[in-house]
Amino acid sequence: MKIAVVGATGLVGSKMLQLLEEYGLTDIELLPAASSRSIGKEIKFAGKTHKVISVEDAIAACPDYAIFSAGASTSKQYAPLFAEKGCTVVDNSSAWRMDPNVPLVVPEVNMDAVKPEHRIIANPNCSTIQMVVALCPIHKAYGIKRLVIATYQSVSGSGIKGLQQMENEEKGLESPVKAYHYPIHHNVIPHGGDFDDQGYTTEEMKLVNETRKILRDPDIAVTATVVRVPVSGGHSEAVNVETRKPFEIKDVRKMLSEMPGVVVVDDPSRNLYPMPLYAYDKNEVFVGRIRRDDSVENGMNLWVVSDNIRKGAATNAVQIVAQLIRQGQK
Ligand code: A2P
Repeated sequence: MKIAVVGATGLVGSKMLQLLEEYGLTDIELLPAASSRSIGKEIKFAGKTHKVISVEDAIAACPDYAIFSAGASTSKQYAPLFAEKGCTVVDNSSAWRMDPNVPLVVPEVNMDAVKPEHRIIANPNCSTIQMVVALCPIHKAYGIKRLVIATYQSVSGSGIKGLQQMENEEKGLESPVKAYHYPIHHNVIPHGGDFDDQGYTTEEMKLVNETRKILRDPDIAVTATVVRVPVSGGHSEAVNVETRKPFEIKDVRKMLSEMPGVVVVDDPSRNLYPMPLYAYDKNEVFVGRIRRDDSVENGMNLWVVSDNIRKGAATNAVQIVAQLIRQGQK
């Protein structure tokens, strides 16, 4: 089996290589591709050294699967060329997520959205992935009416540039690379992506639109504020949920603890709640601070934390590929 990783030199791409190893997908012909800047560069996979190749060479090799994390314009340009060769593409960018012919998939939630004819599958935005894993059982049981979200997103979500800017600023250096208009060290920036006419950012609208698509309910009211915080890895989210049907909070806690991919960390008496430092390098979504919101009829609050490079990106993509291989679907 041949698997291409497009963007293999990036933060998410290199984590994808690690995840392929962790999922035991090592007995493959790996085709690591990146931009022309990186061709010939050596990377390690499954104990062997591989040379980075061009995207064109990866297409010519006709891989069975291609996992992309190289930005939306690269995906727009190249994903269809892989697909034309019969390759199944799992794309981590925003390029295809809202295309009605492309399934937007979180395996624990809606793997059944993938049909045999699909050649491009979209991986959702990091903040959406971790939130819908937690929301899935609640939506199934009670129907979600409205979500009010505030995110606390780490700088690794902005790729290597985000990490470099924060590290330089922590050392008191003027950063030659900038992922943000403002310093992120000692700061909090309520701005992710570009602003629209209504004053929302593209990152906020991803949470609105992707959540509705994955949970298959266009009527869920969603409003979000996306915030970048000086944390190196792991996104946190305060999620206020209003459901259509009434619920008991003990049932919600039980449902969450039984949900695949979720770990409930919720014991205020022992100061136990999820935090990015402890979610780091883990594949699960951590949920805590589970409590009723008495300001509305059927309301609750959740605090949701996950490693954005793992479950928010690489883990989710490799899980999709592993599941397709298990199903015998190419
Ligand atoms: P390169 O390292 O050659 O620039 P990150 O999000 O961590 O910055 O990573 C982005 C990834 O996408 C890198 O592997 C980068 O390769 C790759 N990439 C960026 N632009 C292109 C392109 N036009 N074609 C192929 N890969 C690209």
